[in-house]
Amino acid sequence: MSDVMKDIVALCKRRGIIYPNSEIYGGFANTWDYGPYGVLLKNNVKKIWWEDIVMKRSDIVGLDSAILMNPKVWEASGHLTEFTDPLVECKKCHTRFKADQPVDKCPECKGKDFTDPRRFNLMFKTYVGPAEASGPDLRFGEPQGSEKGTPARWDVASTVYLRPETAQGIFANFKNVLDSTRVKLPFGIAQIGKAFRNEITPGNFTFRTLEFEQFELEYFVYPKEAEATFRDWCRARLDWYVSLGINKNKLRLTDHSEKDLAHYAKAVSDVEYEFPFGWSELEGVANRGDYDLVQHQKFSGEDLSYFNEGTKEKILPYVIEPSGGVDRTILALLVDAYREEEVNGEKRTVLSLHPKLAPIKAAILPLVKKDPELVKIAQQIYENLKPHFFVEYDEDGTVGKRYRRQDEIGTPFCITVDSDSLNDNTVTIRHRDTMQQDRIEITQVAKWLGSKLE
Ligand code: GAP
Repeated sequence: MSDVMKDIVALCKRRGIIYPNSEIYGGFANTWDYGPYGVLLKNNVKKIWWEDIVMKRSDIVGLDSAILMNPKVWEASGHLTEFTDPLVECKKCHTRFKADQPVDKCPECKGKDFTDPRRFNLMFKTYVGPAEASGPDLRFGEPQGSEKGTPARWDVASTVYLRPETAQGIFANFKNVLDSTRVKLPFGIAQIGKAFRNEITPGNFTFRTLEFEQFELEYFVYPKEAEATFRDWCRARLDWYVSLGINKNKLRLTDHSEKDLAHYAKAVSDVEYEFPFGWSELEGVANRGDYDLVQHQKFSGEDLSYFNEGTKEKILPYVIEPSGGVDRTILALLVDAYREEEVNGEKRTVLSLHPKLAPIKAAILPLVKKDPELVKIAQQIYENLKPHFFVEYDEDGTVGKRYRRQDEIGTPFCITVDSDSLNDNTVTIRHRDTMQQDRIEITQVAKWLGSKLE
C-alpha cells in the first residue's frame, strides 16, 4: 500500500471514519466498519444519489428488494455459471490466486507447485431451513414431503445465495412495478443496497471488499434509443462525481473492449478515478440489451413485455444500467479530499470535503472554557443548530487543537464564541480550507450555515 493510502487508513481509524472489522479478534480480511463520522459521510453520499436519481426526476422510481432471493434468479441471470473467477491453488498450503495474475512463488508458504486453473463462483452460499443440507439439494424444488394442502416440512436446508448485485431484485420486480405504478417507457427503477462477493484479490482498503453497498439504476428504453441513452448516462454519471467536488482531472470514462464485456452486456463504459494505486473503476455503465428480461421471462414463465400504447405492440425493453459502489465513492472522496500542509511550521491534515458531504457541518467552540458566559452562548448556539444539522460542541484544549481535529474530519466551519460576542452578539466563522475568519451575527448563523450546504 502506498504511503498516502496508509496515511488515509490511519486517519480514518484515528478519527472514527472507518475501522478494521472485528479488530479485537485480529481483524477480518477485506471487511471494514464505518465509524461515527464514516456513517454520516456514507449516509450523505446515499442521500445525494437518491435525491439526484429518484427525487429530482419524474421518470425514475425507487425500490428496496431483499438480499436473499429464489435461487432460480441466479440461474436465470447467469450468475451460477458465469460469475466466476479462474483460480489456481497452491498445492502445499491451499491458498488460492487469480489465474490471470500468476505468481511464481506462493507468498504464504513459498511453494512453487500450483493446480491448473479452476472456475470459482464469487457468490456466497447460505442455507434456508433448519439444517445445513447434506441430503438432496432442494434449491429448485418443493420442500421435502410437501403435498398439496399439507404444510411444507423443511427436513433439509435449501441452498440460497447472498446477492452479488442489487440489479436482479429490480429485474425480478419489473412486472410488479409495471402493474402497480404509472411508469411509461423510458423509465428507471433505482435501488441502494448491500451486495456480497467472495473476492479473492485483497483490495486496497475499501476498494474491493466482501460486503459492499451498490447504487444501481436500471433504466428501461425502447431498443432503438438504447445506444444514445447509454452515452447520455455515461456523461451524466461522470458529471455526478464532479458535482460531489471530486477533481475532474482525476475522473475519466473508459470503454470496455468487446472481448472484455460481461456475459450480459452489449457495451460498457467505466467511470474511473485516479487512486494512488492507479486508475480504477468507481461505476460501470452498461447497455444490457434485453438480456435480463429475456432470461427472467424464460426461467419464470411470466410475460415480462411492455405494452406500447402508441403502436399497440408488446416489446421487451432494453436496459441501460449505471451501477456504482457507495464504498468506492467514499474512498475516492477521501483520497481526493485528503491534504497535508504546513501552517506556521506545523503540519496540518485536512479533509476538504464538499460541505454537503462533510459528516459534521460546523463545530461550536467557546474560545476559553473558563468563561461561563462564553460557554453559555456557545451551548445555546449548539442547541439551536442541533435539530437541523449535524454539529459538534467542543470546549476542550486550545482552540488551535480543536480546529485541527475538525480539519481532520472535514468540518467545513468552526463557529467560535469570544469576548466580542458578549458585546456585539457576533461569532467568528473559521473556514476549513482557507482558514479565513469572518464575523456574523449569532441570529444569522443557522440561515448562513444552511445556505452553505447546497
Ligand atoms: N449490476 C452490475 C454490477 O454489479 P459491477 O461492475 O460488478 O456491476 C458495480 O459492480 C459497482 O459495484 C462497481 O463499479 C463498484 O463500484 C462496486 N463493487 C463491485 N464489486 C465490489 C467490491 N468487491 N467491493 C466494493 N465495491 C464493489
